[in-house]
Amino acid sequence: MTTPPDPPARASARAAELRQSIAKHNHLYHNLATPELSDRDFDLIYDELVALELAYPALVTTDSPTQRVGGEPLKEFRRVRHIAPMLSLEKKEDLHTLTLFEADVRRKLPDFNPEYIVEPKIDGVSISVHYVDGSLSLGVTRGDGDEGDDITANLRTIPDIPLRLACAGKPPALLELRGEAFMMEADRIALNEDLRARGEKTFANTRNATSGSLKQLDPRLAAKRRLRAVFYSVGATDGIDFASHEAELESLRRMHLPVPGLWFKVVGITAAEAKARTIKEQEGEFPFEIDGCVIKINDTATCARLGLKTNVPAYAVAYKRPEWFGEATTKLKNIVVQVGRTGVLSPVAEVETVFLEGTNISRITLHNAEEIKRKDIRIGDTVVIKRAGRVIPAVVRVVDDRRDGSERIFTMPESCPACGGPVVQRNLSGGAATEVALRCENPNCPAQQARRIEYFAARSGLNIEGLGEIVADKLVERNLAQSPFDLFNLTREQLATLNLGTVTEPRVFGEKNAERVLAALTQARSAPLQKWIQALGLPSVGESTAIALAATHTTLAEIAQSEKLARVVTLADVKEELKQVNPRGKANRARDPATRAGLAEKEAALKDKLTRLQGEVAADGLGSEFGPALASELLAYFATDAGKELLRRFTALDRTDVATDKPPPANPDSPLAGKTVVVTGTLQHYSRGEAHAVLRAQGAKVTDNVSNKTDFLIAGSDAGSKLTKAQTLGVTILDEPALQSMLGQAAGD
Ligand code: IVH
Repeated sequence: MTTPPDPPARASARAAELRQSIAKHNHLYHNLATPELSDRDFDLIYDELVALELAYPALVTTDSPTQRVGGEPLKEFRRVRHIAPMLSLEKKEDLHTLTLFEADVRRKLPDFNPEYIVEPKIDGVSISVHYVDGSLSLGVTRGDGDEGDDITANLRTIPDIPLRLACAGKPPALLELRGEAFMMEADRIALNEDLRARGEKTFANTRNATSGSLKQLDPRLAAKRRLRAVFYSVGATDGIDFASHEAELESLRRMHLPVPGLWFKVVGITAAEAKARTIKEQEGEFPFEIDGCVIKINDTATCARLGLKTNVPAYAVAYKRPEWFGEATTKLKNIVVQVGRTGVLSPVAEVETVFLEGTNISRITLHNAEEIKRKDIRIGDTVVIKRAGRVIPAVVRVVDDRRDGSERIFTMPESCPACGGPVVQRNLSGGAATEVALRCENPNCPAQQARRIEYFAARSGLNIEGLGEIVADKLVERNLAQSPFDLFNLTREQLATLNLGTVTEPRVFGEKNAERVLAALTQARSAPLQKWIQALGLPSVGESTAIALAATHTTLAEIAQSEKLARVVTLADVKEELKQVNPRGKANRARDPATRAGLAEKEAALKDKLTRLQGEVAADGLGSEFGPALASELLAYFATDAGKELLRRFTALDRTDVATDKPPPANPDSPLAGKTVVVTGTLQHYSRGEAHAVLRAQGAKVTDNVSNKTDFLIAGSDAGSKLTKAQTLGVTILDEPALQSMLGQAAGD
């Protein structure tokens, strides 16, 4: 074996020169966005270095730019201890609480000079990077703040992070740096396209994309992810000190480390707050997304004197105004309990009216008692509320430093606030567990009656314009209607004189409105069966199930007696029986041969029955979303008094029976044809109903829940648990532009 030649002094000097030049141009290109070399010229010097190192392998150093992507995939990440712990920050939401922060510092240090640095709070993934004698030696995730994962190989692939610090003199023996890794939104979108094409999981936001990429065990994969980094402070050091945070940032910049592109030095917390707003206004200019601002005391000695408050530094705070995140703060005046159409009791917060994203908000549903407990919401609290896009507003959290002790804990009532009847928690099917929701089970509860009427008249129901929440309440209150069917017996006189106000301050519904409602009711008589099924709110029946029922039955009476539904139930029963008689099953394996022979005979007969039933169920055309639980719940409902009464009244109604709606003819060339699709979140261009209609027109089957049968999840903004579930199941996720491009494809453009 021949040993490679020793590099002549000339070669090693040239290699050093090339490395320095590459590092410089890398910095100009990646950190300063002011390249001086063309890509070609850069490649020339890079290739020259590669050639030199090939000829003289002894020249290769770990901090050579040719060594960014290296090594074999890891089996797992090594845990390493941070030298200085990685802290988090106390959060402030308005100028008032910032002023309290400054007053607090002044109390501790009466000679405090309030000089601050205000900088963006980068919404990425925290990292810590060590430079030993000027060379990058270690990269670590935050982990629990004391220990993180060694992700050195992945961080080395990020071109923003120099492998060697630029230092005029001797580099510091140790520099432990703190910063964030991030990905630009455009790079996330490109990455998602690529992942989607390969049938892999996509990332919902840049932070997930970054953390997913940093957790790649193979650095070659991480290298392809276009990650970036920025540093904003130092942990432990040896051989270098900074008199101020300003000096620290400037020194990092001189060492060619990427630092936030915008920060301010100010005196006084009011000035700091103003600069934080300036930074927030400029957020579109940053390559990273921001999560508010950080306000730091500039003087290092002052910071050291203040030290830590248990877990967070006493010399810096995160500043995040609620409205920066589509949020607002308001006072929660009271919690009232509403009874819904199905009898579920929901607590509703009455808040001081606030204007948020185009609407005035004064009532917010709190969903259930558990949510109130989890968020520790009390009557009298100052709360942060959020309304993103068109979603319903929600209480995000309580501002607990605004509590003064007068707040009251809320408890759910023990009886129905509308009818005084008992409330129960239903057992969940099969188990000992109970539902979270409390319910009033009195079918004659006036609140339930009013909500059923409102639901019937809503746009998603039979669209009786003018008949909303208040009219429904008053009709029930005045004994004019108990069920949607009673609406058809109302006279013009009764409607026109309906008092929507109080006895002392009457406000009648009026002739015109009465006229409109009666006209809409006449129209409703000829609405298709599917619309009726939906509007009547049969148990667990939503839009897609209503469509399936109407497409496979001609009347409600037929549904009530449906053999098709019964077959779905029988099919499930047969499957269950088959499990029981399986002679190879665990329970039967040890039985005597005669018994097992008998079981085998039964099994064969059941298998025949199963095949026959499966064929019949498929031919019935109810579709796979019609499970046995839903089918038996519906049949059971029509056996109850309430169900029988509903059927009787529906049949007695003078309805022009329109032919069953057939689904629109599907476009066979559409990429959506035959696919099972779920829509979640808020879309920009379609309401939920419109999106469903558009998808169905393409021949897609629209269902409500994500399962392993789902082909596509269309995810709008604020997608929640359905998105998470789709991601875990590996379902292909389409955002709205992707949906539109598919629809465009189907249209042939
Ligand atoms: S300073 C001792 N500055 O926010 C101070 N943190 O909630 C420690 N972060 O874990 C943090 N941008 O990951 C600081 N300009 C910035 C930051 C920043 C983002 C992150 C950091 C930290 C978290 C604190």
